[in-house]
Parts: sequence; structure tokens; C-alpha cells
Amino acid sequence: MSRLVCVSNRITLPRRTAAPGGLAVGVLAAMRDNGGLWFGWSGELSADTTAPTAITERDGVRYATIDLTQMQYDRYYKGFCNTSLWPLFHYLSDRFRYDHEWHDGYLAVNRLFAARLAPLLEPGDRIWVHDYHLIPLARELRALGVTQPIGFFLHIPFPHIEVLRLLPVAAEIIRDLTHYDLVGFQTEADERSFRAGLARVYAGDAPRVRTGAFPIGIDVDAVIAEAGAAMRTDPVRRMIGGLLGRRLMIGVDRLDYSKGLVERFSAYQRFLERNAELRRKLIYLQIAPLSRDDIQAYSQIRQALEQATGRTNGRFADTDWTPIRYLNKNFPHGTLMGFMRAAQVGIVTPLRDGMNLVAKEFVAAQDPADPGALILSSLAGAAHELDGAVIVNPYDLRGVAQAVAAAFAMPLAERQQRHAAMLAALRRRDLHAWYRGFLGAIDAARP
Ligand code: G6P
Repeated sequence: MSRLVCVSNRITLPRRTAAPGGLAVGVLAAMRDNGGLWFGWSGELSADTTAPTAITERDGVRYATIDLTQMQYDRYYKGFCNTSLWPLFHYLSDRFRYDHEWHDGYLAVNRLFAARLAPLLEPGDRIWVHDYHLIPLARELRALGVTQPIGFFLHIPFPHIEVLRLLPVAAEIIRDLTHYDLVGFQTEADERSFRAGLARVYAGDAPRVRTGAFPIGIDVDAVIAEAGAAMRTDPVRRMIGGLLGRRLMIGVDRLDYSKGLVERFSAYQRFLERNAELRRKLIYLQIAPLSRDDIQAYSQIRQALEQATGRTNGRFADTDWTPIRYLNKNFPHGTLMGFMRAAQVGIVTPLRDGMNLVAKEFVAAQDPADPGALILSSLAGAAHELDGAVIVNPYDLRGVAQAVAAAFAMPLAERQQRHAAMLAALRRRDLHAWYRGFLGAIDAARP
């Protein structure tokens, strides 16, 4: 069987805590089950641009990493990837900024990735490139004479062309994607947006590009086992003990403005205002590990959340109760699954999200005999599959506040029925189906 080569900006090195986010989980599973090579940025900065590619090996997976210089990091990662592409692809155009030097840096790092990866490739390899950081990589690899099949998967949404058009190099982004043998998206809606972009850029003369929707899933049985085992561990017992019998609503998100946390906190405040009788009976636990915190938009959102937490707790808390517990701390995956199992309500309200695996994990982590209810944004890819959730528009604060009340009041039979339907959907499209489907489609594209 041909070797799998995955390429992503960030890679999950053995013995380091995994970067939260679906990409790391998904690629790691594909690599563990297939073996192969995973190439990417080490996460380190270094002034030495001549250092050789670092290779480590574990559990049948080879990890090849390179460092970036401070300037590459500033222009490529902070600039073009996370201040141009990230907000624009999430339809948050007011956060979008552009600088042509960032774009130059983006192209330069993609060229560097290609130059460092090409010598590591073998004739029978299948190359799988991940996410918005590396859109030009296939073109750069082809320019170096690489002929192996190359697929691309976008973990985040693909914006409609009328939004993408804000980017001065929108046409280049679309053209670069045509160099792949297969371009995969989370949902059919994203795939349609890309096709509309192709039609616009090539005005009826578009090259043939194979595309597909491959919604990423979770390893359902692994989450069920982790959540069950975690209930007996000290961190989960202590968290439950600290509730003093109160009911729990939980949110787990990277601290990112696309996750809708400011809106969620406002909606919760509104819920507390309107539901005085429930006030002391519940606690909202929000776990929000810091992310990209050297980018201004991220430090701003952090401040806004600290203020919102302070306001709500200052206004409603009592000597023996605080309405919000807000933590900028990450926990081991198993512990998070235990926290979710202990919660009566899970709240996932991104302003836009490619998929959102937290929503899927919340469902799988529940006790089927007494499952919690899920509140889910209609603007997350996961909403296409999890129609047993209480679906909300994250901008509709009154609607989200009402959904919180409805979720806590939901009768057992209804919770069981919704949970069973969602669990069945998770099993139909799990993590294995995701990578097998994508790899099968690459093989079909280039038999
Ligand atoms: C999202 C992106 C990933 C990224 C992750 C963490 O899930 O789709 O590509 O790795 O966020 O963000 P970071 O910038 O820390 O890698």
C-alpha cells in the first residue's frame, strides 16, 4: 500500500500536549492507523534558516519538522493566515486585514515547505495537505517536479466568492486550489462556495477539479470509553464536588473570536435576568484555553471576556454561588470528556465554524440513560448532522437565552430520543470514515 504523507502547518509531536482543534485529532488518527510521514512547522522560532529538517519517529509515524524565522511567523502565520484568511473564511469581514508583505511571506513559507518536503518523498506516496495555511503547496510541489497524487482538505469554512472577493489575491487562492487532484471540504455548502468561486474566476472556462464534502467526525467509542473512565478520576470528582449539587452547563472552546463567546456570555446574562428562580441552581463552566494570543484581535477578545465575566459575576454572584466559572486553562482530553459527561447542558455557539468537534464530543460523552442536551449554532458545520440539538442563531441573544432555559427543562424522554438520533449520526460519519473517504477519493482521482 502506498505511504501516506500528511502536511499541516502545526503538527502534534509525540509527548507534547496536542494543539486543541479538529485538525490535530484527525490527522493523528489517520497517521496512527496508516503509518507514514507527517511534515510541518515545529512550533519553534529560530534565526538559523540552514538547520536541517528534524526527523523523529514514534509508533510507526515519522515526524519531520522545520522551524520558522520571526519574520516568517509574523507575516505568514500571524499576518496572512490568521489576520487575513482566518477571519475572512469565517465570514467575519470586520476583523479582516490585508498587507501584501504578509501575502509575500505566505508564498515564501509555502515555497520553503515544498523545498523541504520534496526530498523526503518516495515514488508511491499519497500526499494529503491540510488547511488554509498551505493552499499554494501543490503548485509549489509540482514546480519542483513532484508527480505523486496530492489532495487538500480545508478544515474551516470556504467563504462565498462575494466575501472572498475582499481579499486582493482571491483569484490566486482559487487558482492554487486547482493544482490539487482532490479538494475536500467539511460541508456541501463549502464545496458549492468554492465551485461558485471557480466559475467566477475562470468565467466558464474552469479547469476540471475534483471536489467533495468529507465532514470530519470523532472516534465515537474512544470518547465513550474516555468519558466513562474519567468519572472515577480526581479532577472530575473534584469538579463535580465543587458544584454542590447544582446543575452544570459547559462550554469548551479555543479562545477565538469565531467561537461567539462574547455573544454567549451576554445571552447567559440575559438568561439570568429573566430566570430569577433558576439563578442559584446552575453553574456555567467555560473552558477557554488561550490561542494565538500574540495577535491583537485575540488579546482584545480575551479582555472583553474578562470584563463580561466580572460584570455577570459581580452582579449576580452570592457568597456561596458564582454564575460563571471561566478558565483559560487546558485539560487532558479524557478529563474534558468527563466534565462533559457530568454536564446537563453543552453550549456550542460559534459565529461560524467549519465543523466543531466539541459538539460531537459532547454528544458521545453523555450517559445514554440520562443524557445532557446540546445547544448548537446553526452556523457550525456540525449543525448539518446534529439535528437533535437545540439549534440557535448565535447572534440572537434572546433566542440563546431561551434555548438555555429549554435545555435545562428538557424532559428525560426527549433528551434520550435526541441523544440516540445524534449518536447514530456520529457513528455513520466517524473519524475513520472521514479519512478513509478522503483517501479513497484521492485514489479514485488518480488510479
Ligand atoms: C483550527 C485550525 C487548525 C489549527 C487549530 C489551532 O482548528 O483549523 O489548522 O491548527 O485551529 O490553531 P493554531 O493557530 O494554534 O494552530
